[in-house]
Amino acid sequence: MPPAFPLALNQQSPGPEILPADYFAPLDFEEIFSRTAQLEVDLGCGDGAFLVEIATLHPERNFLGIERLPGRVATACRRITRAGLGNARILHLENSHAVGRLLPPGSVLVFHLMFPDPWPKRRHARRRLVTESFLADIHRALEPHGELRIATDQRDYFLEIERLAAKTVQFHPVTEAGKPAGSSTFENRFIRAGEEIYRLGLRKVSPVT
Ligand SMILES: C[S@@+](CC[C@H](N)C(=O)[O-])C[C@H]1O[C@@H](n2cnc3c(N)ncnc32)[C@H](O)[C@@H]1O
Repeated sequence: MPPAFPLALNQQSPGPEILPADYFAPLDFEEIFSRTAQLEVDLGCGDGAFLVEIATLHPERNFLGIERLPGRVATACRRITRAGLGNARILHLENSHAVGRLLPPGSVLVFHLMFPDPWPKRRHARRRLVTESFLADIHRALEPHGELRIATDQRDYFLEIERLAAKTVQFHPVTEAGKPAGSSTFENRFIRAGEEIYRLGLRKVSPVT
């Protein structure tokens, strides 16, 4: 495990938050983590509870949480610091932009999308994160055979994602997609409320474009 935020090695920030010099250029993860390791990304990581759990379980991998709300970014950073994790960082940014512009092609082993904002009203549906072009950007950023793992309590949104995924030849459903090792704050909330949770894993099957 790399040391937690050595100032001399992580030039960009003294804490877990990544502060890119250029918000339109691919990030250099070797420099950010001061090592080469496979990368998992938690999209809309919220308070970082899930990220910290999986980063603790896998010290041999690097972890990046992406979140757009400043309060949640601050909470996630505090959690990482408290846990003394050198393999987890937070990017305060919008998911689509981060995936499309800041993640280098073929750089991500696993994307986690835990309980994306559902936007259940029909007139708000176009605000949903998962679209055809978002899946194309995820595909580009994934390593060969990398995976996108999705969990949601919204059946509607889940069926829409399944429909979008079925339209592309770029992914295959992962049949063994079960509950991941960690659990997120929203997941625990929905489980306590007795809500059904829908899960889908998509594996990249075609080469990097
Ligand atoms: C329902 S919460 C789930 C949080 C966390 N994944 C969990 O399961 O506990 C959705 C999170 O995604 C963030 N979010 C929603 N849309 C986003 C976007 N386009 N870019 C970055 N973060 C986003 C929200 O701010 C919120 O923290």
